Amino acid sequence: MIEELDFASASPEDRHGLYEVASAWAAEDEPNRDPAPVEAYIAMWESRNDLGFEPARFVVARENGKIVGYAQAEISKAEANAHLALVTVVVLPRYRRRGIGTALLHAAQSLLNGQTVIESWSVGEGDPGEHFAAARGFRTVTSMTRQRLRLTELPEVGELPDGYELVTWKGAAPEEFVGAYVEGLNSLADAPFGETALDHAHNTVESIREEEAEALSDRWVVLLLHKGELAGVTVVERNSVKPDIAEQQHTVVLPAHRGKGLGRLIKSHMLHELDGVETIYTRTSSENEHMLRVNHSLGYTDLYTYMAVQKKIADLQP
Ligand SMILES: CC(C)(COP(=O)(O)OP(=O)(O)OC[C@H]1O[C@@H](n2cnc3c(N)ncnc32)[C@H](O)[C@@H]1OP(=O)(O)O)[C@@H](O)C(=O)NCCC(=O)NCCS
Repeated sequence: MIEELDFASASPEDRHGLYEVASAWAAEDEPNRDPAPVEAYIAMWESRNDLGFEPARFVVARENGKIVGYAQAEISKAEANAHLALVTVVVLPRYRRRGIGTALLHAAQSLLNGQTVIESWSVGEGDPGEHFAAARGFRTVTSMTRQRLRLTELPEVGELPDGYELVTWKGAAPEEFVGAYVEGLNSLADAPFGETALDHAHNTVESIREEEAEALSDRWVVLLLHKGELAGVTVVERNSVKPDIAEQQHTVVLPAHRGKGLGRLIKSHMLHELDGVETIYTRTSSENEHMLRVNHSLGYTDLYTYMAVQKKIADLQP
């Protein structure tokens, strides 16, 4: 049986059922992933993602009442991403190859309102998900590398070239810099992300203020200015459940300022700001050799690669 499940009003048993399915999937990829506690999944499912997509909506597959699989869909209120739904389908290992994943994928369409493209950003290379996506006619649009840094010693930051300055904050952006911050986040649209339909340039001062008001954990920002103008930005967010873990999110150096080691400089400066953080994760397009190299030089190691796959909703067969 497949039905919608409203996460906000779901029973503790159903919330736990979703967690069991999600964590069984995470466990398939051990030993490189740290097992996340149920609270971490709940926090993730209740909040917007780091691209501003709304909290997940669910359809679930049940057997004798127990959740054995789910599809989640995330949609964005930003005009720039109104065409796109981020969908993830997961089935408990022992219930696979019975058509449940396919049924969930189709049922997930009831969660959408007008989107025309589906992308899934968590398809492990060589995993059942890759075969499933191929069987359902999805095409691969980009490949991402997951990296991890154990913060045992802090790297040297190095000298800032003339004319540059760094502005650093934790929490809400100071009014004076929020415009430059939004501009920095939006210029991520330049980064290589293959042929995704995702628009990274959707931030506004208003959307940033909304995100800040809803934030469950610390967010650190380092802004790089050149003669008062934006030259780069990097953002790290603390895990809301495990405060010693953080996610290195967006990093951008604007084209006119590239090739001067400034990407590494802002990221290493950032590492000095992260009080209480011991482990940092990040994800970078596998094609982004430059950023991967910067991360390696800071001590990050590669964990695994995953892909984003895409399909037009109109092409999903009933
Ligand atoms: C991907 C996943 C949801 C598929 O669930 P499922 O219930 O097994 O899917 P279906 O039974 O509907 O499979 C449909 C078709 O996909 C293909 N497929 C699915 N798993 C496969 C595998 N392990 N190897 C080869 N082909 C596979 C087959 O063509 C299958 O049809 P068939 O069984 O008639 O040959 C499940 O493997 C899973 O939960 N994986 C972990 C989560 C994940 O990676 N999700 C992908 C991100 S959306």
